[in-house]
Amino acid sequence: MLKRCFIVLVYLTLTISDVSSKNIGWNAAIAKAKVFVAQMTLEEKCNLTAGVPSPCAGYVPPVPRLGFNGMCLQDAPSGVGDGVGFVTSFPGGIHTAAMWDQDLMFKRGSVIGQEFREKGVHVALGPMINIDRNALHGRNWEGFGSDPYLSGMNAYQYVLGLQDQGVVATPKHYIGNEQETNRVSDSYSANIDDKTIHEIYLWPFADAVYAGAGSVMCAYNRVNQTHACQNNKTLNGLLKDELAYNGNVMSDWGATHAGLESALGGLDLEMPGGSGFMGYALVAKVRDGSLPEARVDDMVTRIFAPYFLLEQDQGFPKLDWNRDVTHDHYKVNRELARAGMILLKNLRNTLPLNTSVDRLLTIFGAAATQYDGGLNPGGGPSGQGYDGAIYQGGGSGFVKPTYGVDPLSALLAKARDSNFQIQFVTRQTDFGTVSSLASAPLCLVFISAWSSEGSDRQNLNAWNQGDKLVQTVAAKCASTIVLVNSVSQLNLEAWIEWDNISAVIWTGIPGAEYGNALVDVLFGDYNPGGKLVFTIAKNDSDYGTNITQTPDSNYTEGVFLDYRHFDAAMIAPRFHFGFGLSYTTFSLTDLRIAKVTDQTPGNTSDLYVPAYIVSLYITNTGNVRGSEVVQLYLGFPNEAAEPPKVLRGFSRVYLEPGETVPVTLTLRQKDISYWNVIMQQFTVAKGAYKVYVGTSGNWDDLKLQGAFTV
Ligand SMILES: *[C@@H]1O[C@H](CO)[C@@H](O)[C@H](O)[C@H]1NC(C)=O
Ligand SMILES: *[C@@H]1O[C@H](CO)[C@@H](O)[C@H](O)[C@H]1NC(C)=O
Ligand SMILES: *[C@@H]1O[C@H](CO)[C@@H](O)[C@H](O)[C@H]1NC(C)=O
Ligand SMILES: *[C@@H]1O[C@H](CO)[C@@H](O)[C@H](O)[C@H]1NC(C)=O
Ligand SMILES: *[C@@H]1O[C@H](CO)[C@@H](O)[C@H](O)[C@H]1NC(C)=O
Ligand SMILES: *[C@@H]1O[C@H](CO)[C@@H](O)[C@H](O)[C@H]1NC(C)=O
Ligand SMILES: *[C@@H]1O[C@H](CO)[C@@H](O)[C@H](O)[C@H]1NC(C)=O
Ligand SMILES: *[C@@H]1O[C@H](CO)[C@@H](O)[C@H](O)[C@H]1NC(C)=O
Ligand SMILES: *[C@@H]1O[C@H](CO)[C@@H](O)[C@H](O)[C@H]1NC(C)=O
Repeated sequence: MLKRCFIVLVYLTLTISDVSSKNIGWNAAIAKAKVFVAQMTLEEKCNLTAGVPSPCAGYVPPVPRLGFNGMCLQDAPSGVGDGVGFVTSFPGGIHTAAMWDQDLMFKRGSVIGQEFREKGVHVALGPMINIDRNALHGRNWEGFGSDPYLSGMNAYQYVLGLQDQGVVATPKHYIGNEQETNRVSDSYSANIDDKTIHEIYLWPFADAVYAGAGSVMCAYNRVNQTHACQNNKTLNGLLKDELAYNGNVMSDWGATHAGLESALGGLDLEMPGGSGFMGYALVAKVRDGSLPEARVDDMVTRIFAPYFLLEQDQGFPKLDWNRDVTHDHYKVNRELARAGMILLKNLRNTLPLNTSVDRLLTIFGAAATQYDGGLNPGGGPSGQGYDGAIYQGGGSGFVKPTYGVDPLSALLAKARDSNFQIQFVTRQTDFGTVSSLASAPLCLVFISAWSSEGSDRQNLNAWNQGDKLVQTVAAKCASTIVLVNSVSQLNLEAWIEWDNISAVIWTGIPGAEYGNALVDVLFGDYNPGGKLVFTIAKNDSDYGTNITQTPDSNYTEGVFLDYRHFDAAMIAPRFHFGFGLSYTTFSLTDLRIAKVTDQTPGNTSDLYVPAYIVSLYITNTGNVRGSEVVQLYLGFPNEAAEPPKVLRGFSRVYLEPGETVPVTLTLRQKDISYWNVIMQQFTVAKGAYKVYVGTSGNWDDLKLQGAFTV
């Protein structure tokens, strides 16, 4: 009992203190920014509200008179992007989320921040925190999956990690950018009701703001018909007033459609500039009385507050794209890559492979090897995929790998060291050769799905007849292992139930260390523990949401998205949200729920105060070291009008065989609240809450259950 209390206290202290990263604090930063702004003429100030051309993706022009040398903005969320060399190509956001490990999320943000800073970039254009609402969305790989709580934790740790290195984070794309189709021309309108926007789409932005994010990028699309970059309700109302956000709002590249309306609507910085909407054009608007000069001061103060917050005015490295900033980051990159891989199926203990027994590996699929057009693929003829291992998705999120270790190369190296044989055919559609090689003891089939910013996927099938490839091999090979290298959801129904498909690993979007990380997992040097960050449906129509070709995207499913929808509609998925296997087994015991405070949330920071502590013990009941992600789902009283269960806590725990450790999960005020549209605030519902704790979103895996009443 004493031990338990001690753990609770330590956890509370950590929760509160880890908010203060290395910075001078917002109040001091805003004060410095105001002093800076006060020294400028109207023309100087207005000119700072739009970008100018430079070697960076975006650039705030210098003011030499005041010793300001300009501010460099660069893509991307998973590393220094836009084609720059000598950087590390980290796993995509979707892969990072699949780690379900907050320490590793922070570490990734931190090494990415270090690389940006050493290149001389002030502002990183990430994280991407739109929700995976549509399985076909071309940018899902950059984001953190379909759940707002999980996305929020990822956003929070990314911002803390990145800004800890003195680089400004830019959560994007605010808000409702859940598809690419029609995002620019006739930009579609995301029509989202008040409850849904607060509980799903705004949630991760709130966590990013809470972590101190300095910039937020507004989106191409419209929200309730109004362009996202001049939307008074979302920018001034939700973001700046409700979330008490002190940083700036910058436009996505070309997402500004007007000057005055944007400035009044809450946009502070137009990127990349040159449209004539903001910048110098605002001088006339101030002179004719349509734009208060105080608002211009506010815009520039917001642009500079993050700069002073992170002390970028002192000793910031000069921009140098040729500087090699990679250090030994390949090590952490390999750790991130393997931590996000998910074991979906493992019959007859096929995995891990044992090189004393598994003496011949036969490898299939173009996705096992390098793309033959180099390391910067732009998609196949239809812009929908390409033959080759996928380290990163496409678009502005693409971080060019300085090198990329493909699975086949890593397996060949392993074969040399461990004395096994390899044969392979990577001509994807040469089914004759495939079939003749498939009469083999052990087969590895690599399939893929790629997507990019700018367009959505056309379907949820594996690229270039991947399903036929799997079927052709498995018809002959009694132990077929499928490796799924995919940007987001994929339909696996063509073969998933086949008994000859002995194992499946979701290899995700793993970054440049792909092959090495996969070898670690295949041979048991690393025990996989990643978990799905979306549901995998049996039928594409089961998702219940889809991109739209019309000018409106109506979020009529409300808060019933992904597993929340599958639960409510009682649809059995192929694989549940939160699912993933291990080479060992775990047991969870002794669930306890302790109330911490009775406080009713009054303002944004109150929402982060712990309300309940849920504790339990976990034991590794198998024979090898491994990790489990303990997941907490909450069932709300009826008043809250919530789905049957929603994720409200998780912790990835690493255990030696036989080891038992305590796990504590904190329910903050926010976590037990729902958005009350009448009161216009998060409200704790009255009644009985159910607490479900287990190892996936499958009810059968939620073995520990408890309750509390408010
Ligand atoms: C502001 O920008 C305008 C238009 O580019 C330019 O002509 C003017 O010199 C700039 N003024 C200052 C003070 O930078
Ligand atoms: C959008 O419209 C819905 C329905 O009228 C409303 O509930 C919601 O608050 C509006 N949101 C914004 C950001 O305008
Ligand atoms: C803009 O939003 C602010 C904050 O919610 C609100 O006070 C103001 O009335 C709105 N202005 C317009 C023109 O709707
Ligand atoms: C690998 O197989 C050999 C031969 O069957 C066996 O002795 C050994 O214990 C196995 N190794 C592992 C790690 O299971
Ligand atoms: C499974 O593989 C074996 C080869 O060992 C083959 O004979 C059998 O037909 C395969 N099963 C199916 C359903 O394809
Ligand atoms: C998928 O669902 C659609 C619509 O409900 C149905 O028409 C179709 O037959 C289903 N497909 C399969 C393979 O079950
Ligand atoms: C989305 O709609 C398209 C066109 O109607 C359909 O072909 C596709 O199966 C749907 N996809 C999903 C994931 O619902
Ligand atoms: C979205 O809702 C609007 C307003 O209710 C309606 O006019 C439109 O047809 C809907 N669009 C779609 C694609 O359902
Ligand atoms: C939020 O409310 C708490 C008291 O409930 C108070 O201590 C705190 O200063 C408030 N924070 C803000 C930002 O208003």
